Amino acid sequence: MQIDVLTLFPAMFTGPLTESILARAQAEKKLTVELHDLRKFGLGKYKQIDDSPYGGGAGMVMRPDVVVDAIEAICKKKKVHRIYFTPRGEKLTQEKVEELAKKKNLLLLCGHYEGVDQRVIDGWIDEEISIGDYVLTGGELPAMVLIDAVARHIPGVLGKEESAHEESFSKSLNRKKEYPHYTRPEEFRGMKVPDVLLSGHHKKIEEWRRKQLS
Ligand code: ADE
Repeated sequence: MQIDVLTLFPAMFTGPLTESILARAQAEKKLTVELHDLRKFGLGKYKQIDDSPYGGGAGMVMRPDVVVDAIEAICKKKKVHRIYFTPRGEKLTQEKVEELAKKKNLLLLCGHYEGVDQRVIDGWIDEEISIGDYVLTGGELPAMVLIDAVARHIPGVLGKEESAHEESFSKSLNRKKEYPHYTRPEEFRGMKVPDVLLSGHHKKIEEWRRKQLS
């Protein structure tokens, strides 16, 4: 899968993309993430990318000419599913993540200030996504959340131990939250591991785990 990210702050992605499973997925060429600096498409000497809103009011709006130039430059040679992050968007769920993981190319547009001119959304964006009912300073953190969640579903990205099969919100657990986990020691500060997990009785363990789903 290839993910192109259009952002004013590409440096924010260092860390989430350069550590752990996402770093390994990119090294193994299962995932390619290309960061595009929106500022490069800005206008004039100061590379302006935003302007004041028609109708007045506080804040700035990202200009459609700048943003569409950037989108078209990225989407020139390939069919790309285009996502814009906004609290107004559809809430990101595990089902949506699984659906997006099947796409070959994603473009993630990260908004800032008051967001982008509505004409960009109407003409060049396939869907608007929110990661929750709260407001962030921009679309970068939502983009990182989506990349992380989607990458886990690309075949081969997770090792056997990290499998995305029986986990919270997976189809195999009826989209419910996972059962709790325990490891050694058997007793920790007076708190014991549930007896059933030490019983070696696989059917009973299965039953117990199923009952814990919520
Ligand atoms: N941009 C600002 N807040 C956001 C949110 N909650 N989800 C997606 N994009 C956002």
